[in-house]
Amino acid sequence: MTEPMNPAAILFDSWAALGKGESMAKGHWPMTRQILERMNLRSGLRCLDIGCGNGYAVRETARRVMPDGAACGIDVAPLMIREALAHPENPPNVDFLVSAAECLPFEPDSLDRLLSVEAIYYMADPLTALQEWHRVASAGASVWLMVDFYQENPYSHCWADWMEISMHLYAQQEYIALLQKAGFQEVQADRLFNPNPLTAAEQASFKPGWGYETLADVVDFRTNVGSLLVWGRKA
Ligand SMILES: C[S@@+](CC[C@H](N)C(=O)[O-])C[C@H]1O[C@@H](n2cnc3c(N)ncnc32)[C@H](O)[C@@H]1O
Repeated sequence: MTEPMNPAAILFDSWAALGKGESMAKGHWPMTRQILERMNLRSGLRCLDIGCGNGYAVRETARRVMPDGAACGIDVAPLMIREALAHPENPPNVDFLVSAAECLPFEPDSLDRLLSVEAIYYMADPLTALQEWHRVASAGASVWLMVDFYQENPYSHCWADWMEISMHLYAQQEYIALLQKAGFQEVQADRLFNPNPLTAAEQASFKPGWGYETLADVVDFRTNVGSLLVWGRKA
């Protein structure tokens, strides 16, 4: 008997088919770039991006850990991984695999940096996923999670009504507690802000949606609410 497809795989395969992998990458990059700066990336590190989408963060991570390090991206949606693998600018030290975040094809203690951008709240059981990430993390490894869908971001709450998948709406403190329960230590949280002002074209093409009724809502999210970053370390 074949296993039913993961609901996130069905949804994000359809997004990949519509070209949304690239638009998500563009939208997330201003914050993801700031996370990569904080991750203390250097040659020799073994890195994983969980729920990597089209792989943009994996490519940049791979460049930053050359010549002796490597970066892998996993995603449960096969079409996202197909797009990531086909990218013309993949450095030689990247790899992409179709895998669920809750059951990773890696040995225990085998990874030095784990990143996940806008993915964990789609997972059926985020704690189980984090415990799996802790299993594959090496001693001293760090885990970095970014989410826009969280309790303190009022603009995001309505997303759950529109997405054809169940989503977990946690508060900052609940994310901290989840990482701690999974075994990570020195868990901290911060907000990341998009440093780019809205362009004239973005302002002209604005249409209400995704919780933003007006341009002022978008500016408020970008400058006051921000993306939630939570990180911790394996002892
Ligand atoms: C909103 S997209 C973000 C993609 C990318 N990280 C980015 O910054 O653009 C969420 C991604 O997480 C993946 N995902 C969701 N649940 C997953 C799971 N259980 N295991 C692995 N990937 C998952 C989806 O397939 C999707 O590609």
